[in-house]
Amino acid sequence: MKKRIIVFTGAGISAESGIKTFRDSDGLWENHDVMEVATPEGWARDYELVLNFYNERRKQALEVAPNPGHLALVELEKEFDVQIITQNIDNLHERAGSSSVLHLHGLITKSRSTIDENLVYEIEGTEINPGDLCEKGSQLRPHIVWFGENVPNISIAHEMCETADILIIIGTSLNVYPASGIVNFAPRKCPKYFIDPKAEKIVLVNNLNIIKENAGTGTPTLVKELLDNA
Ligand code: APR
Repeated sequence: MKKRIIVFTGAGISAESGIKTFRDSDGLWENHDVMEVATPEGWARDYELVLNFYNERRKQALEVAPNPGHLALVELEKEFDVQIITQNIDNLHERAGSSSVLHLHGLITKSRSTIDENLVYEIEGTEINPGDLCEKGSQLRPHIVWFGENVPNISIAHEMCETADILIIIGTSLNVYPASGIVNFAPRKCPKYFIDPKAEKIVLVNNLNIIKENAGTGTPTLVKELLDNA
């Protein structure tokens, strides 16, 4: 049976594709205060601004392409059972060709109802506009988990991490809870790799190999090593 690799990614894996990370831009996200555009309070205060903000992010996300970091993870599927868990709202893992991707913070290409979180839709084109309604008649919003909201996929991510034979963490500051806590669910003995130019030792995580490199170079190197030794 193939060994199971869980890969946990953050904004850093998409940085070399041209999508800015959040914490590398001084708390401002594409010139906006995060509290304005990524909280339920921000939505309540000015939902048109929030819709416009994500319409722009959506256009940008569709213009950029997967980089060698995303592509190397697809290669890993030749010899391993690979499950990606991402905090990113872009779809670059899917567009690279990864077959199993769990999004913890939602997906920019989808919309959802404001009165029933189970009503989720593919967005046709690139915009959600004021007056775009769900089938129950409420305004559509981006299908994104904002600060202060529940993370519906967190339990399934915990269960996935418990099954890891190998854990790879790429491009995340591990600052945002509960997402960052999932790395503690991997078995103690399982080898763990952390690829990030600012990677630090993570308290509570055993058997950790730190690779202080960009995702676009560090990931292909690690993938080759794992495939050669599979
Ligand atoms: N390759 C790998 N890592 C990189 C690269 C790169 N080329 N460039 C930057 N990084 C690393 C940074 O060193 C940093 O550790 O990516 C990380 C980005 O951290 P954050 O901006 O905090 O992104 P992330 O950890 O994904 O944030 C978590 O916070 O903004 C919210 O909900 C949003 O999902 C996001 C969550």
